[in-house]
Amino acid sequence: MTTLPTDGKRKRVFIRTYGCQMNVYDSDRMADVLRPLGYALSESPEQADLVVLNTCHIREKASEKVYSELGRLRDVKAERRNAGADLTIAVAGCVAQAEGAEIARRQPAVDIVVGPQAYHRLPQLLAEAERRAALRRAGKRLPGAGVLDTEFPAESKFDHLPAPAGVRAGSAFLSIQEGCDKFCTFCVVPYTRGAEYSRPAEAILREARGLVEAGAIELTLLGQNVNAYHGEAPVCSIGGSTWSLARLIRALAEIEGVVRLRYTTSHPRDMDDDLIAAHGEVPQLMPYLHLPVQSGSDRILEAMNRGHGRDLFRSLADRLRERRSDLALSSDLIVGFPGESDADFDDTMRLVEEVGFASAFSFKYSRRPGTPGAALADQVPEAVKTARLSALQALLADQQLRFNTAKVGAVVPVLFAEAGRKPGQVLGKSPWLQSVHVAGPASLLGRIAEVELTAAYAVSLAGRLSSSVGAAA
Ligand code: SAH
Ligand code: SF4
Ligand code: F3S
Repeated sequence: MTTLPTDGKRKRVFIRTYGCQMNVYDSDRMADVLRPLGYALSESPEQADLVVLNTCHIREKASEKVYSELGRLRDVKAERRNAGADLTIAVAGCVAQAEGAEIARRQPAVDIVVGPQAYHRLPQLLAEAERRAALRRAGKRLPGAGVLDTEFPAESKFDHLPAPAGVRAGSAFLSIQEGCDKFCTFCVVPYTRGAEYSRPAEAILREARGLVEAGAIELTLLGQNVNAYHGEAPVCSIGGSTWSLARLIRALAEIEGVVRLRYTTSHPRDMDDDLIAAHGEVPQLMPYLHLPVQSGSDRILEAMNRGHGRDLFRSLADRLRERRSDLALSSDLIVGFPGESDADFDDTMRLVEEVGFASAFSFKYSRRPGTPGAALADQVPEAVKTARLSALQALLADQQLRFNTAKVGAVVPVLFAEAGRKPGQVLGKSPWLQSVHVAGPASLLGRIAEVELTAAYAVSLAGRLSSSVGAAA
């Protein structure tokens, strides 16, 4: 239940989320933590008493965005103070973890810097920020820069966060694992999110049941390395003391009302036999898998410390498709990792051609401070990275269009999630995570309906509601 502040005035928080789905999940959890303190969500910083930037550090551009946004917020705060009020600014997420107190030094308008493992302590951090603001108003000089909490605490934040409050349009994220011990040489995640941690299965099942009660029919299990999941088994469970992701998926599929299951993001090294088998055996597990490969060159994969070669990836793709012939594969690819030659890049192009992706994200290598890759001597020139990225993206776009076109004429279940761009249109997801728009009523949101796919575009499909089958939840 929401408790209003004692003065009866409702406070407002604006949360801006950058980066991956883990951050999207965390932003919702932060809103859940703040709700009992009287905070309702606001649509813009201008209407908010508290602004939280939930940041991403993965590439240089992502973290630089934060400082330009903070510059704008500083101006909003200055105007607010001129009017005798205030704005509290908090920086959360992976930039907060990576740069810590440096953020408040670089932008003194920042009141709170909070790392991803400390969100359950937001109420204490806010109280401390308010105490500092009161001292400042009284003309006192304050030691240090802002309130900082970037500890990796011994306790898990998941044990202290409130249960998720609501579900948007039938679909919910469920974080089951955090952190990463893989230390790919380009990546900041092991430093910003800490060591791998798997939530106990019982807590996940409880959260899943709550989400289904709140209207979820699709659950997407999240983790930086979600298939490395090895959570404590429920007390009543027979077998080993931990559950794998496959075991957890099988248990989640037994919860009445769970119609669709997805999981992201996976590492090729952790695709075990049982998980591959689950793709053929668990009907709720959607025929779509995001499996980052990063490069098709064995030499570069080794330099990236990925722990596998191109052959392992190819055989995984084959084995998964043996189990589930219509499986759509998606991936992440990096061009221009230090030392990547033309021949290495050709290997990546060949791998993409051989595997065939339904969609993929591709990036230029970005040199991240503190990672081993940043220290390598043979950095690839920017112009070479640009040329390789555009060649790769042309190939991927072609594959995506071909994948989408091949589905035209099929009748498929679509889970509707939001209003379309045009009036009277609704937008949903096919089992293969394609965006599908149809003419239809808003009452479809949060429900699954059969749709005949009528046209394919680069990143979406058009369809019409199939008259033979009505909407079903
Ligand atoms: N396993 C993770 C990956 C997180 S980062 C997960 O759960 O999603 C997402 C993607 O960003 C990576 O797969 C990689 O392709 C890309 N990436 C990470 N570090 C990068 C860097 N330094 N430069 C360019 N791309 C990077
Ligand atoms: Fe980063 Fe590699 Fe871990 Fe993924 S597996 S989060 S790319 S270190
Ligand atoms: Fe970015 Fe952190 Fe996610 S660096 S991609 S927000 S784990």
